[in-house]
Amino acid sequence: MKDTSANTGAKKAAGEAAAELVKSGMVVGLGTGSTVAWTIRRLGERVREEGLDFLGVATSFQAENLAIDSGIRLTSLNSHPLLDLAIDGADEVDGDLFVIKGGGAAHTREKVVSCSAKRFVIAADESKYVQKLTWPVPVEVLPFALRLVERRLVELGGRPVLRLGKMKDGPVITDNGNFVVDVSFGVIENPAALAARIDPIAGVVEHGIFDNLDELFLARAVGVERIGRKRG
Ligand code: 5RP
Repeated sequence: MKDTSANTGAKKAAGEAAAELVKSGMVVGLGTGSTVAWTIRRLGERVREEGLDFLGVATSFQAENLAIDSGIRLTSLNSHPLLDLAIDGADEVDGDLFVIKGGGAAHTREKVVSCSAKRFVIAADESKYVQKLTWPVPVEVLPFALRLVERRLVELGGRPVLRLGKMKDGPVITDNGNFVVDVSFGVIENPAALAARIDPIAGVVEHGIFDNLDELFLARAVGVERIGRKRG
């Protein structure tokens, strides 16, 4: 669905800048995707070079494998239910810091991990920062409930498309064993209201609208800008 090869330099700059937030003794949520992969690699360097001593909680098999390869010690959310910090990437972020995530089909665990953290930070290149959200909202769906969920999403004005695998016939299966539908709503004028209407649909495991971002590390041409949350 998404092209992760674009804007590599900016993703690296934002991801590595966010890695500097991690201090020894912290428990840190490690997000999924090509931007936060730079965070994870940089954290591995800091472990080796500075003796940085922290525990990570992975949001996906991708993040877990990369953290292990980078020499980061991992723990589980059940062992450490309160995280100091979570760092992740995004598909889109608007001016009020509403976020769409799930381009990598990891948004359910990403939401659980970010909601477990005292502080939630996203690293992104400038292409992700938009005036209004338009990215199709990823919705993780219990396979058994696919048709019902699709019908309800159409009733909300959405156009759901079942996400298909690459190098695998049939649908993408998430790390939790579910399907993902990508739902176009055009311009999303009120992300909070839309999220509140998707939440109660039976069979929806989680959707990719996030309202809990505290700070955006945004890679601009002149450097990484930090944009904090303004709404209450
Ligand atoms: C995975 C996500 C990713 O964080 C999001 O898709 C951004 O990925 P990338 O940094 O590769 O552009 O939400 O579910």
